[in-house]
Order: sequence, then C-alpha cells, then structure tokens
Amino acid sequence: MPVPRDSHLDSSFALLREGYDFIGIRCRRLRSPVFQSRILLQRTYCLQGHDAAAMFYENPNLSRVGAAPRMLVKTLFGAGAIQGMDGPAHRARKALFIELLTRESAARLVEGVEQELLDSLDAWVAAESVDVLSELQGVLYRAVNRWAGVPAEHLSARHQAQLVALIEGAGSAGLEHFRGRSARKQAERWGAELIEAQRRAGGTLLPADSPAAKIAAYRENAELLAPRVAAVELLNVLRPIVAVAYFVLYGLVELARHPQWRESLQENDRLLLPFVQEVRRLYAFFPFTAARVVNDFQWQGLELKRGSRVLLDLYGSNRDPKVWPEPDRFHPPRFVDLPLDAYTLISQGGGDHHTGHRCAGEWLTIDIMQTCLRVLCRRVRYQAPVIEEQPLRNCFPMKFSRRFEISRVQWLV
Ligand code: HEM
Repeated sequence: MPVPRDSHLDSSFALLREGYDFIGIRCRRLRSPVFQSRILLQRTYCLQGHDAAAMFYENPNLSRVGAAPRMLVKTLFGAGAIQGMDGPAHRARKALFIELLTRESAARLVEGVEQELLDSLDAWVAAESVDVLSELQGVLYRAVNRWAGVPAEHLSARHQAQLVALIEGAGSAGLEHFRGRSARKQAERWGAELIEAQRRAGGTLLPADSPAAKIAAYRENAELLAPRVAAVELLNVLRPIVAVAYFVLYGLVELARHPQWRESLQENDRLLLPFVQEVRRLYAFFPFTAARVVNDFQWQGLELKRGSRVLLDLYGSNRDPKVWPEPDRFHPPRFVDLPLDAYTLISQGGGDHHTGHRCAGEWLTIDIMQTCLRVLCRRVRYQAPVIEEQPLRNCFPMKFSRRFEISRVQWLV
C-alpha cells in the first residue's frame, strides 16, 4: 500500500510556518503514524509515535549518511560530524563521546556548573532584573569550557555568542540563519586552530586527559581527525551543553506557572527527576531527526521508497495520547514509577546510547537540569513573570513571546 500523502506539492513553507506542530497536524488529519510529503524538493516520509520510533532506530534500511538537511549541517552540526555517520565508523566515533562523558567526568562538569551558577548569583541579587536565558547560557558556557580544557584566554562574549548562534540559526530562514552559518565558520576556524596548536605542542598545550585534548588525540583507522572535523566534534560537546540552558529556562517558566512545584522541589529531591522529565517531554526543542531510505522496505503494510528522506517527530511523539494521557498537561507525577522503554520519551532521540544515535549527553542534560533547578529553588527566591501562553512553536528552539526576566532575587539563608 502507498503511504498516505500530504496534499501540498511542496510543504517546506508549511513546515516553516507550523514548526513543531507540522508532523502532528498531518498525522492526525490523515489518521496515520506516517505520511508522505515533499520538503525542500525531496520526497520525505514523516513519522510519529512509539512504534514509528522503534522502527526508525532499528531498521537497517535507514541511514544517517547525507540525511540531515543542509541548513542544519551548515549551522547546528557541521560537516563530518557524528550525526551523519553510520555503522562501524559511527560506533567508533560514538565511543569517543561516551568516553568524554563517563560518570566521573560528567560529575566534574555538573559540579563546575553548580559552582559557576552559585558564583553568578551575587550579581543576580544586585541586578534590578535578570534575563534568565542569557545568564544561564553564560554559566554553562564558562563551566563547559573550563571542564573541556579550553584555555581561559580563549573565552569571550563573542565566542559565547557564536555557540548560541549555532543553535538559534539552525531552524530559521532569514538573517538569523546566516548569522548561524557565519558563526559556524568562525567557531570551526577557532576550534581547528586550537586542535592544531595542541598537536604542534606535542599534546602539552591543553590539560592532560581533558575532553579537548582527547578529541585532538583521537584516531580513526590510525589517523588523527582532520583539524576541522576535530573542531566540529569539540563544538558538538560545547554547543549542546550551552543548549541545556533552554531546558532549564522552560523548567523555570513552569515553576512560575505552578508555584506548588517550587515548594515541592524545595523540600526534597523526590520529585526533582519527574519534574525534569516532564519538562524534557513537553519542551523537546529538537523537533525531529532525519534519516534516508537506502533500500525500499515495508512498514505496517506501507511501502517506503529508496532515496527518500525520513523525519521522525520527536516533539510530537512525546505527546502521543496513546502513550501519554492528557499529553498537553504539565504533570510531573506521571513519571513516578513509570517504566520507560527506549522509544517512549525521545526528546533526545531513542534506541541505544552506545550503538545508536541517541544523544550522548542525555544523562548529563538531566543532571545539569536537576542541579540548576535545585540551586534556583533552594538558594534564592525571586519574582518571576507568569507566562500563560504556550511557547512559539514556529521557531527553533521554541521561544516565548517575551523574555523571561526575574527580579528581586534574594539569597535564602
Ligand atoms: C544527539 C538532543 C544535549 C551530545 C542528539 C539527538 C538529539 C539530541 C535529538 C539526535 C538523536 C538522533 O538523531 O537519533 C539533545 C537535546 C539536548 C542535548 C535536546 C539538550 C540540550 C546534549 C549534551 C551533549 C549532547 C549535553 C553532550 C555532549 C550529543 C551528541 C549527539 C547527540 C554527540 C550525536 C549522537 C550520535 O549521532 O550518535 N542530541 N541533546 N547532547 N547529542 Fe544531544
């Protein structure tokens, strides 16, 4: 049977207009977990839901090579990044990320984030108001660079703004996108120079065993990575850690909407993880992930054709009513004792962290979120605006119509 079709000749503009809701709207309209569309002039199958995720991550007929849209490669990922690899080459590269993010190494970073946040709070207390997102980006930027072994003299407001532009330029079509492309060129040039300097110094410029030093020394098939590719992978560590600021922001917005949650998180850690999971579920700000069909195959009696692109809806799958009762409600207790398989909560991808493309930094993300929220609930009080509206879902990452600025920040004991 052919896959149900979206009625438009090309849906690229509809995708830009509807953003995060694009796939869900059509799956509901066509009553199907998959539909065929034309996006960026290519035949594209869009998938949603738990079973679609299981198929997407386990199907040998899907490949990541050349799958990501060019606009993402030129901003978010970079050419030669792990996101576009498959098979043994992907596994070898993934082992590098797993080694960089061991439990001990991640714990050091989380400690650094906590210290950096605590050190920032005096300035928050002194300020009339605090733009929470940019402050958190600064906290994470300083902490991740120190942890990664990037020399202090390399840190600057300009470099921080480049990392943010890589994220914010990814999903926009206008000026912001070109800012993202230009930031990628500059950030890769910076990273490649750092890698080359480390190699010229015989591996002694950067702290021994630091993530940046490990990336500089990493070999594939006995060869060092080209400096530009090593820079891409260094940015693949720095950039997403700065991006965790968006998740913390969404958590703070929910705390302002539901003050009882603030009290509950102040008392103990019991509901901290369910709270964080619910934020990640509802605010999956990476809307979808992409693969390419390398051989024709059938799924649920539907024929998917070779050469097509496949988009798995991460945002919409997290709101699948078959899996999540009252999916749009912010309700952290749903996560208490909830058994999760590898395809249920897929804000950071599904399947296996080691062998598949699931996010290498998922547990780190959760730990950073818990740490920041714990500090901001227990160490200070503040006044926060209550933003009732849903975030804007036609921009990446999703934003609110106004900045989330807090005021009257005071230390608690
Ligand atoms: C992959 C989301 C934080 C490193 C991914 C994927 C998503 C994602 C959706 C792709 C999954 C797929 O294609 O199947 C997020 C979100 C984050 C986050 C929303 C929150 C800010 C992190 C952190 C790191 C990280 C903190 C730490 C270094 C990576 C890497 C990959 C990846 C290296 C590529 C994995 C692969 O292709 O095998 N992430 N991530 N991410 N993430 Fe994250």
